[in-house]
Amino acid sequence: MALPQGLYRYEPQRHVLLLIKAEDVRRVTDYQDFVDNAPLDLVYVADHGRMKMVPAAQREAYASVAAGALSQNVYLFCASQGLGTVVRAWFDRDALTKAMGLTNDQHILLTQTVGYAKR
Ligand SMILES: Cc1cc2nc3c(=O)[nH]c(=O)nc-3n(C[C@H](O)[C@H](O)[C@H](O)COP(=O)(O)O)c2cc1C
Repeated sequence: MALPQGLYRYEPQRHVLLLIKAEDVRRVTDYQDFVDNAPLDLVYVADHGRMKMVPAAQREAYASVAAGALSQNVYLFCASQGLGTVVRAWFDRDALTKAMGLTNDQHILLTQTVGYAKR
């Protein structure tokens, strides 16, 4: 989760955000200007190291389905709150992977920008 004040990892068990890096990586995530100004950018990461029960050939597909469901929930929430959102697959994968300090097992699936719709 990229916010102006830093990069956070969502920890579902405790429902908290853990600070990974006190740096604004929103600009690293995009090729599109609107991302720079949007307050929040979500980054969906598959951690293949935690998917040992899933055959290796199917991990990417399972993780992509999960990212689709998660991002759809964000769409629903944003619609209910009058916010704008867009999923994005067009981003600099290498730069973002580096900025986030991901391991070889961790693979970025999608990003999703959340912001205020233009009037
Ligand atoms: C998997 C996926 C990846 C996408 N990647 C991008 C992207 O990188 N940038 C972008 O502007 N739209 C991207 N889109 C399209 C937007 O999500 C959206 O459908 C499109 O901008 C139309 O939005 P609107 O109906 O709100 O105008 C992607 C859509 C999907 C399903």
